[in-house]
Amino acid sequence: MNLSDKIRTIPDFPKEGIAFKDITTLLKDPNAYEEAIDQIAKRYKDKDIDLVLGVEARGFLIGAPLALKLNKGFVPVRKEGKLPGEILKTEYDLEYGSNILEIHKDAIEKGDKVLIVDDLLATGGTVKATADLVEELGGEIVEIAFLMELGFLDGREKLTDYEVFSLIID
Ligand code: PRP
Repeated sequence: MNLSDKIRTIPDFPKEGIAFKDITTLLKDPNAYEEAIDQIAKRYKDKDIDLVLGVEARGFLIGAPLALKLNKGFVPVRKEGKLPGEILKTEYDLEYGSNILEIHKDAIEKGDKVLIVDDLLATGGTVKATADLVEELGGEIVEIAFLMELGFLDGREKLTDYEVFSLIID
């Protein structure tokens, strides 16, 4: 199955000139969704990982089923104001403006081996900020995995300190 064909492109969303990669079409096809998760899981099944971490919101859709498949715990990184416990936060720049991500301080212990997961690597800002949170808590980043990477945006350049894997590269 060509998983790339299961992701549709919506022009001019969220603003003019942006070709939005819409994964809802892949998620709606149970065989495609399962195959995507299985293929990513295959890469990590024998790796030494303690936790799978996903980034709100679309990162949860890949990270949570992956964590279950790998029989590892799942840690959510959330947007501002959603996590109830003691948090660590980071602010990072978007193309216009900025965004805040938060993690529970007790979600990661020093030395935990963490697999970071998101649906999409675009500019890399989201996941770089996430990696900073993990490292501030003493976690070791095993790898960063994406369902899809927009290669032309060179997001990998922000992530040169890490191993990066993308199932689909556009
Ligand atoms: C999207 C996507 C990634 C991020 C990629 O999330 O799910 O997390 O942007 O962009 P970057 O590499 O340029 O940082 P978005 O902030 O749109 O939120 P959502 O997952 O809640 O839809």
